[in-house]
Amino acid sequence: MNKIVNASILPQTLPNQPMHLAKLWFDDACLKKNQPNPNAMTLVTASEGNQPSARIVLCKSFIADPGYVVFFTNYRSRKGREIMHNPKVSLVFHWDQLGRQIRIEGKAILSSPEESDAYFKTRNLGSQLSAWGSDQSQPVESRKELIDQIKCRADELGLIIENSEVSLKDSGNSTTLPRPPHWGGIQIWASTIELWMDGEDRVHDRAAWTRELKPTDNNIFSTSKWLGTRLQP
Ligand SMILES: Cc1cc2nc3c(=O)[nH]c(=O)nc-3n(C[C@H](O)[C@H](O)[C@H](O)COP(=O)(O)O)c2cc1C
Repeated sequence: MNKIVNASILPQTLPNQPMHLAKLWFDDACLKKNQPNPNAMTLVTASEGNQPSARIVLCKSFIADPGYVVFFTNYRSRKGREIMHNPKVSLVFHWDQLGRQIRIEGKAILSSPEESDAYFKTRNLGSQLSAWGSDQSQPVESRKELIDQIKCRADELGLIIENSEVSLKDSGNSTTLPRPPHWGGIQIWASTIELWMDGEDRVHDRAAWTRELKPTDNNIFSTSKWLGTRLQP
């Protein structure tokens, strides 16, 4: 299969808002949907002993201004615990058929409870249950033990599982579960971003931008201007 490589290159004068250009790429990939999860990104965290670990998560919001992305997870998972210890993380998006890669380095902070609640409500009951049912990253004796644990928690939450369909026993006015306190959003604020475009004969086009992130009183960051540099491939 031929790769659909973009003929264009990065602008000669690098844009001073790289997250805006990155969001155009992200939106383009989501629209074209050449792969089942175009919003997938590789997230790298580091352990207390500085051992990096990588896994895929889904980017659920790409906020160009002030410049962060959001994914949702179990805060007690390996990545959650590593982020609590060391908020410095890296991310990579890669869209093979578009010939584009975005690398982000930055700092992670927890989403507000309101942001996490709002997203949790959009998940179907089955996905809401799995946030309660799985102690992500913890060992489990067998698949059966995991399923039994999920069924037991479904029962405690007033849910019925029939033919793999999850429903509320006595729904009253509610159609959703409350969000588990240990599950929610994580915002990754970019302090470095690199945009990479596939080029002929591997003469790719790359540029990287950096900026400073300063923590503010209201648990976000104030940001300095981006400084961009073109890089050799
Ligand atoms: C396509 C894809 C999407 C995924 N999306 C998420 C996600 O958004 N959040 C999440 O916690 N795990 C997601 N996972 C599972 C993670 O890759 C990982 O297995 C899990 O979060 C446990 O990681 P940890 O033990 O390092 O914390 C996804 C996996 C794949 C393959």
